[in-house]
Amino acid sequence: MLSERIRKLTPYVPGEQPRDKAYIKLNTNENPYPPSPGIRELLKTFDYNILRLYPDPLALNLREKIGNLYQLPPDCVFAGNGSDEVLSFAFFAFFDNSRGELFFPEFTYSFYPVYCDFYSIRYKKIPLKPDFGIDLDAFLQADSLTSASCGIIFPNPNAPTGMYINLKDIQAFLNAYAKDRVVIIDEAYIDFGGESAASLVPEYNNLLIVKTFSKSRSLAGLRLGYALGQAPLIKALFTAKDSFNSYPLDTLAQKIGELAIEDSHYYSQINSQVAATREILSTSLSELGWKVFPSKANFVFAGKPGIPGEVVYRTLKEHGILVRYFNKQGIKDYVRITVGTEKEITLFLEKVKKLFSS
Ligand SMILES: Cc1ncc(COP(=O)(O)O)c(C=O)c1O
Repeated sequence: MLSERIRKLTPYVPGEQPRDKAYIKLNTNENPYPPSPGIRELLKTFDYNILRLYPDPLALNLREKIGNLYQLPPDCVFAGNGSDEVLSFAFFAFFDNSRGELFFPEFTYSFYPVYCDFYSIRYKKIPLKPDFGIDLDAFLQADSLTSASCGIIFPNPNAPTGMYINLKDIQAFLNAYAKDRVVIIDEAYIDFGGESAASLVPEYNNLLIVKTFSKSRSLAGLRLGYALGQAPLIKALFTAKDSFNSYPLDTLAQKIGELAIEDSHYYSQINSQVAATREILSTSLSELGWKVFPSKANFVFAGKPGIPGEVVYRTLKEHGILVRYFNKQGIKDYVRITVGTEKEITLFLEKVKKLFSS
């Protein structure tokens, strides 16, 4: 009964959301702090009768509010059901085999190859630098040596390493790369200490920035993400959306999203707290002899030399703490630890000291 297409697909596997017991959950990069108080108030007083009606298919109020944050007009903003959906439309709209392969880093967000398979886009994985940073020069070199790329995507900071590329290097890369190919920078984690490349959108017509409300706006359960780019790119995303599902963002999500943008001050406070806790986590793990990669995200990629990542993951899980382990050659020695509250990270560090001191 199944199509050949579906039989060939290997779907993305999300991080565990277990129900068997209460864990300290440091495995899916959710924000440990609640959404803003304004959202709580909205949910208390929301007029449910509005749900009779279809939502605004353009999500115009929300796109205007997001645009104001970045000094961009609403026709430079696209909003979707989580950045995963925005990315899916972008892969469909901008990448195809007629112009080469899609390039992305060897170790990165594991949804990218899944979308490539879904849309039959050929891809090339570009190795990281020895220090695990994204090697933008290697992207340019591969583009000149082999069949050209049809576009490029990378997260900044990268996942699962947390490593960050500064704006100057991004701009140098955009200057050197083909102007008729789209570059997507997935900034899911930029608000925890990095500088967004959104300011470059007016200058580069091939740049698309993708962002999410899931991490820095504590709304992973709502499913809200967006893209910033020049109007023709955004128009192409609308063509993809309106050929698939023209009402993807429900009324409540749009309203909550607007409030989350209005409450930016609250979010910058909690995200500074997350960044401060990340520094405590990184420093403490280093002092305990762990290899820790420098992170500008709300997670830390780290491993204890001599102990495989899988053992760290399983041992912690037995003791009520969830972290994320990737069973992939090259990064098997590490786990990704989401930055929780200070209390959660203190408990995590106590457990680590007990369980893994040599
Ligand atoms: C790099 C990266 N991009 C995008 C996403 C998707 O975020 P969402 O669909 O929740 O907006 C994630 C989620 O973990 C991610 O790590």
